[in-house]
Amino acid sequence: MDIQLWREILDPYFLAVDELKVKFQHLKSEYNNAGEYCPIDQIEGRVKSIASIIEKAQKKDIPLDEIEDRLVDIAGIRIICQFVEDIQTVVNIIKNRVDMNVIQEKDYITNSKPSGYRSYHLIIEYLVHTTKGAKKLKAEIQIRTLAMDFWATIEHSLQYKYKYNIPQTIKTRLSNAANAIIVLDNEMAAVRDEIMDAQDSLQLKDNIVSDILTNVQNLYKVANKREIIKIQDEFLKIYKDGDLYELEKFRKELDIISESYRAQSLM
Ligand code: GTP
Ligand code: MG
Repeated sequence: MDIQLWREILDPYFLAVDELKVKFQHLKSEYNNAGEYCPIDQIEGRVKSIASIIEKAQKKDIPLDEIEDRLVDIAGIRIICQFVEDIQTVVNIIKNRVDMNVIQEKDYITNSKPSGYRSYHLIIEYLVHTTKGAKKLKAEIQIRTLAMDFWATIEHSLQYKYKYNIPQTIKTRLSNAANAIIVLDNEMAAVRDEIMDAQDSLQLKDNIVSDILTNVQNLYKVANKREIIKIQDEFLKIYKDGDLYELEKFRKELDIISESYRAQSLM
């Protein structure tokens, strides 16, 4: 096959990688614009080089006219998440899309590879349109955490350096590092809950304070000034202490005071 033909074959794959990157990038900005936590941290994409395609085809005994069917990672997308939990969210997002048809799924997170490699792989069918018409092709999406990606990158460099024949001592170290990555991701998962809790209580505090301030504003119209100042001072003191429980208690007390004024005004 001459180089011109390769260009023609690979062109739709370049389009697919470009489109997929844009689509995931846009998901990211939608989350950001909505002020919501985004399960995607980074997106990478590449088309396999001709040299790598030929090398892999030879290694796997795949005739060149079957590479598009049997080499599923000519188009490759990598989605990096902050936390392990985010991976399943991303998988579900992809499965629910009509423009990406998942045809294969490999969970190397529950079952890591003997090397220690961990990642979630989806093979999808994806439709692109070029001047030659529509073409359905395959793409591989690798989804992993930042920590898993760090490990895979280092391991890949070592595989390259040792020509896929890593000495046992280094294999052992990589295996230890892979275990450390599991511990690290678990620790981060605990921190993730903390972050979510902190965000929740921040929202709760906002809501309570806004209720209190509305009440104080209404009391201005009916209560005497001395009482208002007393209420305000008390609120500022509780607010400064930052105790959510005390703040909630104060809101309830203020509700009762407001209610009694309302009842009086109805009399
Ligand atoms: P290969 O791509 O030849 O491995 O085909 P496969 O059918 O065995 O697919 P697999 O899901 O095992 O691997 C797909 C891709 O995941 C590879 O091309 C790599 O990018 C990545 N991968 C798989 N195993 C490892 C590993 O042990 N170390 C690293 N760094 N990457 C891996
Ligand atoms: Mg493999």
